[in-house]
Amino acid sequence: MLKKPATTEIPIHELIAHRWSPRAFDPERMVPREQLLALLEAARWAPSCRGEEPWRFLIFDKQTQPQAWEKALNCLEDSNQKWAQRAPVLILATIVNIFEHNDSPNRWAAYDCGAACENLCLQAVHLGLITHQMGGFKLAKTHELLGLPVEVTCMSMIALGYQADPQILEGDYLTRELAQRNRKPLGEQFFEAEWERPFKI
Ligand SMILES: Cc1cc2nc3c(=O)[nH]c(=O)nc-3n(C[C@H](O)[C@H](O)[C@H](O)COP(=O)(O)O)c2cc1C
Repeated sequence: MLKKPATTEIPIHELIAHRWSPRAFDPERMVPREQLLALLEAARWAPSCRGEEPWRFLIFDKQTQPQAWEKALNCLEDSNQKWAQRAPVLILATIVNIFEHNDSPNRWAAYDCGAACENLCLQAVHLGLITHQMGGFKLAKTHELLGLPVEVTCMSMIALGYQADPQILEGDYLTRELAQRNRKPLGEQFFEAEWERPFKI
């Protein structure tokens, strides 16, 4: 299994270091229901503004709902379909961005959904699964094909499954699978006491 742990200045928890976004999914290996449930539990326990839990997740398991899974796959941009077609599970992460208690806009809904998605992805690492989040899907088509209510905003589609040999990928996909993972220097985005004063390592 190809591992691409984060290269860090200071050691970080291995769950965080080992999460990455592979594209080589094993199409033969389905995700057991209890593992899927564990991921949803992890997402469920994310913090949220006012405890609103504004996320709604729609799960498409190829094993149990092949036709629905196919529909979800068709919502993806072609460039994502090429590799995500091997993922046995697709998860659509959405939000309802209106507070339940007073119908006012919840501007933190997307923030909270991101936290829930990261929880899900980290739990996946713990269970030996891989995830790849995607923003590349057709919004109108997704609403129409999946029959989503108007008040729902789609955030990401998450491919989930077990990792395969990277060599099942071709061309640019293979190159990217094998490429080193990078991040901007810490001081470019983390400031100390004053805007744009780099936090010193
Ligand atoms: C909201 C979001 C949308 C993304 N959209 C896509 C996508 O459409 N296609 C894709 O191949 N990767 C997509 N990615 C994966 C990112 O490219 C990847 O997370 C980033 O390059 C960092 O790599 P790492 O996850 O391996 O650390 C997306 C990730 C996030 C969080």
